[in-house]
Amino acid sequence: MKKLLVLLAIVAFVCTAFTAIAADKGPAVIKMDKAKTGVVTFDHAKHQTASDCAACHHTGTYEACDSCHGAKDDGAKLKYKSAIHNNCKGCHKEMKKGPTKCKECHVK
Ligand code: HEC
Ligand code: HEC
Ligand code: HEC
Ligand code: HEC
Repeated sequence: MKKLLVLLAIVAFVCTAFTAIAADKGPAVIKMDKAKTGVVTFDHAKHQTASDCAACHHTGTYEACDSCHGAKDDGAKLKYKSAIHNNCKGCHKEMKKGPTKCKECHVK
């Protein structure tokens, strides 16, 4: 009986831990303001309902893209600007949905 209770306690703990991880979906809307071309208002929550996390967070982690993709191509990885543009525009082109022109994304 005691063993069963311990087991149940462990199961409950693991479930809570997983729920906590799954609940961290990041911000619903992300204002991306690094480009002089204009601010990109990215509806993260809407994109999460339409695609897998891994369509963008392709390494299985949720670090900022520019923590790996730097200011210049380094042979192994595209620079930040190309990585983000290929990801965003690439999918929009492929799906024939979503903006592909500069000013449809970058708003001054
Ligand atoms: C599908 C949306 C989208 C389109 C279309 C788009 N961009 Fe971007 N662009 C972004 C996002 C998102 C970022 C990242 C901005 C940030 O991190 O603040 C970005 C970043 C940039 C940056 C800065 C990169 C850096 O290293 O900081 C420049 C410059 C830029 N875009 C110019 C353009 C130009 C010029 C066009 C048209 C030829 C264009 N973008 C089209 C979404 C888009
Ligand atoms: C269409 C692309 C896309 C999809 C799909 C997506 N995300 Fe994101 N997510 C982003 C971008 C872009 C950022 C901002 C990253 C940055 O600042 O470089 C972000 C940021 C985050 C952050 C905050 C990271 C930080 O510390 O700044 C978390 C957490 C996160 N996403 C979780 C998720 C989860 C969980 C899913 C799936 C349910 C998901 N995302 C789906 C593009 C996406
Ligand atoms: C932990 C480091 C890391 C993070 C974080 C990361 N990337 Fe990458 N990315 C890489 C590496 C390494 C490659 C090259 C190898 C590969 O394709 O997996 C790459 C490749 C890419 C490619 C090119 C894939 C192809 O067509 O060959 C795109 C586009 C891209 N990343 C976009 C993103 C975006 C957008 C984010 C943020 C949502 C992001 N990356 C976050 C490391 C990272
Ligand atoms: C896996 C595919 C995919 C990726 C990756 C993706 N998008 Fe989208 N995006 C879509 C689709 C599909 C729509 C159209 C949604 C609709 O019409 O309801 C869209 C629509 C949009 C719109 C129009 C307004 C809105 O929210 O409906 C903006 C702006 C946008 N995306 C920005 C981005 C940015 C910035 C990135 C990269 C950080 C990105 N998208 C990456 C699929 C994607």
